Amino acid sequence: VTSPALGLSRALRSSANLIDAAVAQRRLRNAPTDVAAATDFVFSFTCGTVDLAPIQVRSEVERFLELIGRPQRVVELGTAHGGMLFLFTRVATADATLVSVDLPGGLFGGGYPRSWRRLLGSVGRPGQHVHLVRGDSQQEATRAEVGALLGGTADLLLIDADHRYDGVRRDYELYRDLVAPSGLIAFHDVVPGSPAMVGGVPRFWEELKISDLETTEIVEDWAQGGWGLGVVRVR
Ligand SMILES: C[S@@+](CC[C@H](N)C(=O)[O-])C[C@H]1O[C@@H](n2cnc3c(N)ncnc32)[C@H](O)[C@@H]1O
Repeated sequence: VTSPALGLSRALRSSANLIDAAVAQRRLRNAPTDVAAATDFVFSFTCGTVDLAPIQVRSEVERFLELIGRPQRVVELGTAHGGMLFLFTRVATADATLVSVDLPGGLFGGGYPRSWRRLLGSVGRPGQHVHLVRGDSQQEATRAEVGALLGGTADLLLIDADHRYDGVRRDYELYRDLVAPSGLIAFHDVVPGSPAMVGGVPRFWEELKISDLETTEIVEDWAQGGWGLGVVRVR
């Protein structure tokens, strides 16, 4: 049973979130298109309760954006605050389709509030199509929805959702066929760190590295305790 005071405080918080998200959405209309300026913009973007900064090491993101070129179809598993999604829209083609999946309250970040849906849905440049899927990436139904929204094979897949060993493995196995030949599959948190932060990603990455796939590592410092991107090129 919810007390009237608790109910009122929840309602006030949710309207404050909605107002912040609407103001943030207006500010996003003037977001830079140039990648360097957009990176500055998003890493420092706050607006009341809205904070869009990517959950990433900035120098690693900069190298990653150079590596991925100009993708036309992008899938991100693990939207969180939408910072990487925003940056993908800056490097992607003018007609790109981007699909980002997050499970509300999911492990390793918790996703974004419902009141941010319009805000995050508006991060694209004119002519681009941004789709947000709120669900468990590991479900067949979610995979089917992502495939239908994408309308073709992906040039880039970022796996950054459930970091537990079985979670990252499941995402890889479920989505890898969605990636086009020569496309890229990236994993975040390949650097060993606390289990609460990196889960089983470093172990999974070590196993993938010894396969005969072409891999690249983008790591600022192997002693930084987590973070780092591992990238595989699909044959
Ligand atoms: C580390 S954050 C993602 C960071 C984001 N990609 C970025 O670079 O800013 C991980 C996100 O994955 C989400 N998540 C966890 N398990 C998931 C699942 N099974 N399906 C979809 N999303 C999940 C969490 O809710 C969280 O928001």
